[in-house]
Amino acid sequence: MEIKANKSETFSNKAKFKVPFGTVSITDDAREMIDEAITTKWVTRGKYVQEFEERFAQLFGVKEAVAVSSGTDADAIACAVLYDFGAERGDEIIVPALTFVATGNAVLQAGFHPVFVDVNRETLNIDPQKIEEAITPRTRAIMPVHLMGKPAAMDEILMIAKKHKLHVIEDAAEAHGAEYKGKKIGSIGEMAALSLYAAHIITTIEGGIVITDNAQMADALRSLRNHGIEGKFQFKRIGFSAKMNEIEAAVGIGNIKIFDQILEKRRRNLLYLIEKFKQFEEHFITIKEESHEKIGPHAFSIIVREGANFKKDEFVQFIEDAGVDSRNLFYSIPTQCANYAFLGKKLGDFPEAEYCSDNGTHIGIHQDIELEDLDYVEQVVADFLQTKR
Ligand SMILES: Cc1ncc(COP(=O)(O)O)c(C=O)c1O
Repeated sequence: MEIKANKSETFSNKAKFKVPFGTVSITDDAREMIDEAITTKWVTRGKYVQEFEERFAQLFGVKEAVAVSSGTDADAIACAVLYDFGAERGDEIIVPALTFVATGNAVLQAGFHPVFVDVNRETLNIDPQKIEEAITPRTRAIMPVHLMGKPAAMDEILMIAKKHKLHVIEDAAEAHGAEYKGKKIGSIGEMAALSLYAAHIITTIEGGIVITDNAQMADALRSLRNHGIEGKFQFKRIGFSAKMNEIEAAVGIGNIKIFDQILEKRRRNLLYLIEKFKQFEEHFITIKEESHEKIGPHAFSIIVREGANFKKDEFVQFIEDAGVDSRNLFYSIPTQCANYAFLGKKLGDFPEAEYCSDNGTHIGIHQDIELEDLDYVEQVVADFLQTKR
C-alpha cells in the first residue's frame, strides 16, 4: 500500500528503530504551497489556514473549525470558551485520570480546576460509572479523551451531561477518523479539540484545531486564539497567542487530501495487530475494536496482565532492544505526575489509571509501517515470551 508522500525524519530514526513510533506525511502539493507562502512572504495566517479550516470542517461534518498552534491550545481555548457561557474562573472540568498530561495542563491554563476520574482498563477511557460522584456545584464540563483513537462512552457521557447541565468538550487529539455508533468522533460533543502534532493522523507538524457546530462558540474560539481580540485592537477576553501559520496549514491541507489512504492503512495495521496478539491474550490486554465503533488508530496499546511472570519494564527493554519503538501508556496525572501533587491526591486513588501506566506501553501502527514490520513485532513478542517459559 503506497502513499504518495515522503517519510519523516523526525520519527523514522531507522538507524535506531526498525519499527518507529510515529511518522509525518508531507505531500508534493504541500511543498508547493509552502514554497509559494515563502516566496510571497505571506507566512502568517492567511488563505491556507482558511482553506485548511474549511476542509477540516467538511471532513468532520461540522460547521466550524478554528485552527490553533497546538492540541494543548485547542483544549485550553475550548475550555476558555465556557466563560462566554456563564463559567467562572476556578470552576471544575472533569477529565480522565489517564491521558497525556496536556489534557490536565490545558484545563489549568484556561483557569479551571481539573477533576480527575478513573478510567476503565479495557477501554483506557473515562469510566462513565464514576463521573457522577465527581460532579459538584462548580462542575461546568466533562472533557472525555478518546485515548489511542478508541471512542469514549459518549452515550453515557452525554446523558450525564444533560442531567447535570454540563458542557461536553471532546479531547479527540488521538482520534481522527474514529466513529462511535455511526457518528464521527469530534462531532458528538459541543466542541472537540484535536492535536495536529507530528504523530497524529492529520498533522500540521505542530498544530491543533477546535471544531464545533456552534457559531457563537466558534466566534469566541477565534477571539481566544488571538489574544482575546474583538473588533479593531479591542480585547474582550483573556486570550491566548495560539495562531496557526500558512506553512503548517499547507502540510495539513496535503494531509487531508490523503486522509482516506492514511486512515485505511492505519486501520489495516491496527486490525492486523489485534489479530496477531490474540495468541498472546493470556499475557496482555491490547486495544480492541467493538461492534459499535471504528477506532481512528493512533497507536497500539499493550498492557501486561495481572499475574504475568514478567514486568512491563523487562518487556519494553526487550522490544526496544529489538528495534520496536514504544512510549509509556501515559500516567495517572493526579497521582503519578509530581507536578500535580498540589491536588493532594495519593497513590491508589486512581487504581485503573495507575495500573495502565505501571503495566502499559504503546507502539506505532502508522502509515509507514508495513505488514512485514508487524510480523516482525509478533516475532519479537513471541521471542520475549519464550525467554519467560
Ligand atoms: C490526548 C491528548 N490531548 C492533548 C494533546 C496535546 O497535543 P499537542 O502535543 O499538539 O499540544 C495530546 C498530544 O498528543 C494528546 O495525546
